Amino acid sequence: MCGIFGYIGKQEAAPILINGLKALEYRGYDSAGLYVVGAGCVKAVGQVKNLEAKVGDGLRGSVGLAHTRWATHGVPSEVNSHPHSDCEGKIWLAHNGIIENYGELKAELIAKGHKFASATDTEVVAHLIEENLKEGISFSAALLLALKTIRGTYGLVISSVHEPEKLYIARKGSPIVLGIGDGENFVASDPSAIVPHTKRVIYLNDGEWAELTADTYQLYDLEGAPIAREPQVIEWSVEQTKKGGYDHFMMKEIMEGDNVIKNSIRGRLNEETLEVKLPELDVVADKLKDIKRIIITSCGTALYSGMVGEYMIEEIAKVPVEIEYASEFRYRSPIVEPGTMIISITQSGETADTLAAIREAKRQGALVVSIVNTVGSTIARESDAVMFNQIGPEIGVASTKAFMSQVTLFALFTLYLGKLRGTIETEMYTKVVQEIMALPEKIKTILSKEAEIKVVASKYAKFDDFLFMGRKYTFPIAFEGALKLKEISYVHAEGYGAGEMKHGPIAMIDENFPTVALALSDTVYEKMVSNIEEIKARSGKVLAIATEGNSTLASLADDVIYVPETIEMLEALLAVVPLQIFAYYIGTGRGYDVDKPRNLAKSVTVE
Ligand code: M6R
Repeated sequence: MCGIFGYIGKQEAAPILINGLKALEYRGYDSAGLYVVGAGCVKAVGQVKNLEAKVGDGLRGSVGLAHTRWATHGVPSEVNSHPHSDCEGKIWLAHNGIIENYGELKAELIAKGHKFASATDTEVVAHLIEENLKEGISFSAALLLALKTIRGTYGLVISSVHEPEKLYIARKGSPIVLGIGDGENFVASDPSAIVPHTKRVIYLNDGEWAELTADTYQLYDLEGAPIAREPQVIEWSVEQTKKGGYDHFMMKEIMEGDNVIKNSIRGRLNEETLEVKLPELDVVADKLKDIKRIIITSCGTALYSGMVGEYMIEEIAKVPVEIEYASEFRYRSPIVEPGTMIISITQSGETADTLAAIREAKRQGALVVSIVNTVGSTIARESDAVMFNQIGPEIGVASTKAFMSQVTLFALFTLYLGKLRGTIETEMYTKVVQEIMALPEKIKTILSKEAEIKVVASKYAKFDDFLFMGRKYTFPIAFEGALKLKEISYVHAEGYGAGEMKHGPIAMIDENFPTVALALSDTVYEKMVSNIEEIKARSGKVLAIATEGNSTLASLADDVIYVPETIEMLEALLAVVPLQIFAYYIGTGRGYDVDKPRNLAKSVTVE
């Protein structure tokens, strides 16, 4: 959600901070601000470029912190933007997360004479440190005391005129990453913003804080005890954090589709022996042999990839699977019996609900295996084993390439589990492996139809309501297609299982309510054709996604986009690509910046 960037070194801080914020823009925000030690603070509502224009070259200094805000407490406004300060403007800080006891703390501080400028929960932290300093203790002791007093979640970067050559950072529930440079250090809420400066990073764990100078860093726990931790090296490249000639990250990431599959299977699928190996699961292999039940839990697009995984695992590995929104799982007293395994899927590795769900599952003794893109993220660190996507950062708020990789990893996991438990025949195993290997070329074929899909999208751009329907392996794709469309074009779209049509949704169908029908040549194809007939009989317009070679749908549907043939288990990976491109062109056709959809954030790190 909000983005944090901090710098301490020998260069001018302001341009580095502005660029850091730009790298975090994709996370979603409504205002931004920046503080440079010895120079002052500037804030602006709206985009980072507004802040940049206001700053000009006015703030000179080599230590500072900056923030993009996504409003929780208090409307988006300059006064509510971070950084926030104490009464005297001596302590400045930027915060991600929510201070849950800010109300009571604020009342106590006001009673002691503190003057608050904003309506935020964050400001209370600056005043609390200020108050603690009155005890005559050091700045770090005053900070530590404040950290022990506040409840809730925080990722914090703090600067003070008391110690102008230092920055402090702290973390509980909201990610903070430290980038170790040469004579300079960086702080960010997301490692992708640090990659252009250094690839040596240290992820803070919950309950840790650190003191930084340009040349040093020292981590501590909440008892004040020092913690030793060596930096780790991020493999992401700088190119992966740029648009590479595309207008939007979203299209760049869709177009990476074929490489996403190659990178996801890299080191896991031996193309000569046709064997799947998941060495990252070795540590839990003994337990996997005997698991009795799997619960897949996640949010948004990641959950839809899990729905595809559910079908794969039950069909091939023969383990009962349930799928559940993490936001429900965490609150509804779930029963996690011995022998239950949790699979969480998350691009960011920081989604608050997913994290809370795996913590609840672990508390009840479950084995937790996660599919995560961001190495070093909280969910990656708290899982018993992790399959990393290996696809570089996903920057577009609308998740596209992560979905492709997540489903691919589910296919590999299914084969691995099926073999481990002896539920898959060699012939089937080999067939699936060969089809996985063929996916990149097939995806390339779909991507080459971008212009054709753009034309189709332009025909549908005028509609304000859409139904997406699928069955079996394309059932989750109906949800995913609808989600993609609504989040970037603000068009009403509903995903439905085609079998549910007669139980309600068909009532909505008329000439102004088109249906996107996923009608691939699979075991439920004929059922889908019947559903399409029913829609046509009610004057509904139909855009069908069909398998190459299909000769029926051209005359039945209004428009057809063809995708290459594959086995049913993998068809979701092909069916989703035209829907991603379709959504992209409806969104851009309506004039929206699809990389920064309104009200949305890339990482949902608060509930
Ligand atoms: O980082 P995560 O994969 O855990 O994020 C989960 C969802 O917030 C995410 O997939 C969201 O639904 C996307 N905006 C969908 O495009």
